[in-house]
Amino acid sequence: MKHETLEKNIGLLGLFMVAAVSIGGLTQIVPLFFQDVVNEPVEGMKPYTALQLEGRDIYIKEGCVSCHSQMVRPFRAETERYGHYSVAGESVWDHPFLWGSKRTGPDLARVGGRYSDDWHRAHLYNPRNVVPESKMPAYPWLVENKLTGEKTADKMEAMRTLGVPYSDEDIAGARASVKGKTEMDALVAYLQILGTSIKTKR
Ligand code: HEC
Repeated sequence: MKHETLEKNIGLLGLFMVAAVSIGGLTQIVPLFFQDVVNEPVEGMKPYTALQLEGRDIYIKEGCVSCHSQMVRPFRAETERYGHYSVAGESVWDHPFLWGSKRTGPDLARVGGRYSDDWHRAHLYNPRNVVPESKMPAYPWLVENKLTGEKTADKMEAMRTLGVPYSDEDIAGARASVKGKTEMDALVAYLQILGTSIKTKR
């Protein structure tokens, strides 16, 4: 029997297994590259402003992603708590995306607009000021560290090569719009835009 030859020859079996799995994988993955729903930004979405983009880098630098996911899954328990589940079109300009997988703290995909700027400032300065039982670390240096804006235009340029539609004016004005702002200003600007590009009901 031909199949017996395959079963008794581990090398050959391995080869056939790899082929079978690859075909399965390719038929699932490749079509995604061509589907608008995963490649096109959601309607009306705007790229991060220079300040929000800097805020995003601070979010990465401070390791917020290690305790906070940015991905609301399509389950009732999640949508009741956070709002509309995340859709792929919201992340097409996020390089790299910050979906994360660890939720020591709540998901932040839809935190934009949920609190005031002042709340975020007080919270990031010392979470215990507003949430007495909080386990989140304090980030008091954010109010002291100022942005120079030296690299902001380069960062936007890099994003543009990755497909984010920044105009020449956006890039030309980048430095001036962040210079002198604090890391706190930038991070709060970023948090306040999260998840606001699609209408969500809460
Ligand atoms: C060690 C884990 C940890 C890290 C690191 C961390 N957080 Fe948190 N975060 C928490 C926990 C726990 C809570 C819930 C308690 C609270 O609100 O303070 C929280 C709450 C929040 C909230 C309120 C969310 C809501 O819906 O109520 C925001 C906003 C937030 N964190 C932002 C940040 C940012 C920005 C950073 C990085 C500068 C960060 N966190 C870093 C653990 C963390």
